[in-house]
Amino acid sequence: MAKVLVLHGPNLNRLGTREPDVYGRITLEELDDRLKRLGREWGLEVTCFQSNVEGELIDRIHAAEDEFDYIILNPGAYTHYSYAIRDAIASVRVPVMEVHLSNVHAREPFRRVSVTAPVCRGQIGGFGILSYEMALYAVQRWVKQSSEPGGEVDAKSH
Ligand code: DQA
Repeated sequence: MAKVLVLHGPNLNRLGTREPDVYGRITLEELDDRLKRLGREWGLEVTCFQSNVEGELIDRIHAAEDEFDYIILNPGAYTHYSYAIRDAIASVRVPVMEVHLSNVHAREPFRRVSVTAPVCRGQIGGFGILSYEMALYAVQRWVKQSSEPGGEVDAKSH
């Protein structure tokens, strides 16, 4: 069974109460439960971790190399300036999908820049918790198709 690490960055522990008009009313615990349940339905083992500390996120990305097949990462505000997280993503072979709840391109100018997205497999944003679900769905498709004749279908094979 493919293993997926869902990593949430700073302030995402405040989901549900934090700016609900922007981020919605679902709590992080509810989101994690939902992703784990979907993962079970799709044959994926989902593990979730949240931290407000840059170094802890970096340590998890490094450790994921030996433990996980895919990472779904919402770096929170680190998206916009953490070269350290960018370098951590670039240092591992495990594919990383960047997700955002909000449409960062429709908000303040500083949010339009992602220093992490260029080293990720792709970025999904603006769909609330569906952004995470779509990333998980993409993982499910990759896993399924890599086991079928014709091999893995992902962005690199088009
Ligand atoms: C966010 C967008 C970031 O700009 C912000 O700092 C967050 C959440 C999102 O999921 O929309 O913390 O990553």
